[in-house]
Amino acid sequence: MVNVGILGATGMVGQRFINLLDEHPDFNITDLCASSRSAGKRYEDATTWYLDEPMPECVKDIIVSETNPNDVSNDTEIIFSSLPTEFAAKTEKSFAKDYVVASNASALRMEKNIPLIIPEVNPQFLDMIEIQQKENNSDGFVITNPNCSTIALTLTLKPIQDNFNIKKVHVSTMQAISGAGYNGVPSMAIMDNIVPFIGGEEEKMESETLYLLGSQNNGDVSPCDFNISASCHRAPVVDGHTEAVFIELDDDVNIDDVKEKMSSFKALPQELNLHSAPKNPLIVSEDENRPQPRMDRNASDGMAVTVGRLRKDQAFDNSFKYVLVGHNTIRGAAGASILNAELINNKIL
Ligand SMILES: NC(=O)c1ccc[n+]([C@@H]2O[C@H](COP(=O)([O-])OP(=O)(O)OC[C@H]3O[C@@H](n4cnc5c(N)ncnc54)[C@H](OP(=O)(O)O)[C@@H]3O)[C@@H](O)[C@H]2O)c1
Repeated sequence: MVNVGILGATGMVGQRFINLLDEHPDFNITDLCASSRSAGKRYEDATTWYLDEPMPECVKDIIVSETNPNDVSNDTEIIFSSLPTEFAAKTEKSFAKDYVVASNASALRMEKNIPLIIPEVNPQFLDMIEIQQKENNSDGFVITNPNCSTIALTLTLKPIQDNFNIKKVHVSTMQAISGAGYNGVPSMAIMDNIVPFIGGEEEKMESETLYLLGSQNNGDVSPCDFNISASCHRAPVVDGHTEAVFIELDDDVNIDDVKEKMSSFKALPQELNLHSAPKNPLIVSEDENRPQPRMDRNASDGMAVTVGRLRKDQAFDNSFKYVLVGHNTIRGAAGASILNAELINNKIL
């Protein structure tokens, strides 16, 4: 078993980490860290638990630590980070001197030689780890996962990019409130409403998607070269991001071909049979009313993205469109970091 710690353990993503790591076959939770508001308290007393599943017994009595590498047990190997972005960069780098840091935060995502990974999409970016360790003369390193809405979108684009020539992507999101954290969106702002702005989200979706689908050589990333435009909105849904995606290709396409490429899509995590890897990363629904966040966010324990309403666009040439739903705090956050760590554990540790 590999001992693991969690930074931001009392937050929305931190709770998902705990839930997904409870009874994990390879990882054992040893350390829970949060802000000085929570440090020194029993985890159960420090946390406003929001998940439907009960808090696992094994964490209730753990005393929350300060977020400091010196306060983490010596035999811990992997640190999962769900720190707020503003504290993440410096803190994660300080942990990376000795530990493997698998981070959700956006702070280090696009930094040179810090791999931003979706294991089904760009596992070859793991080559950056050796360069990062040499540069920093460190035993540990940082690996990051993308933004929650980017992960779901990019998973659906990968089999399309592998089989067709993408010219343009437009995406319009309806994002769950849990994506903003526990204190994120006031109920008076979101009930009976749609909020048409999520700070930084459109920029992240556009840049991270091109980066993930690009190529890398010795740590230099060449983003892929299609055009992408995102419009991001907050909707009164607790968990599960919905995205309406419009794609233009260079050539005409048979929609059944696209359906087949998406539903048969499998990659390295499925080949390696990693514990958190869904059997099929993409589930294609034929039902005209699906996907819906309440019904589809938990597909394959929240690790698969459901695609529906896949159809040709009648207004634009060489174009088709679909709707997707992905679980933002599982596939889009904690589950993504855990799958990254499972890949590292399989390939590197
Ligand atoms: N929610 C999502 O769907 C999602 C998806 C992808 C990525 N992310 C990213 O994951 C990170 C966490 O998001 P979240 O939704 O879990 O936020 P959250 O619910 O607000 O939780 C924040 C966590 O960070 C801790 N914290 C706050 N200030 C700190 C400080 N100065 N030093 C150390 N710890 C501190 C908090 O501890 P206390 O309880 O002690 O205050 C809490 O454990 C963010 O970077 C976010 O962008 C979130």
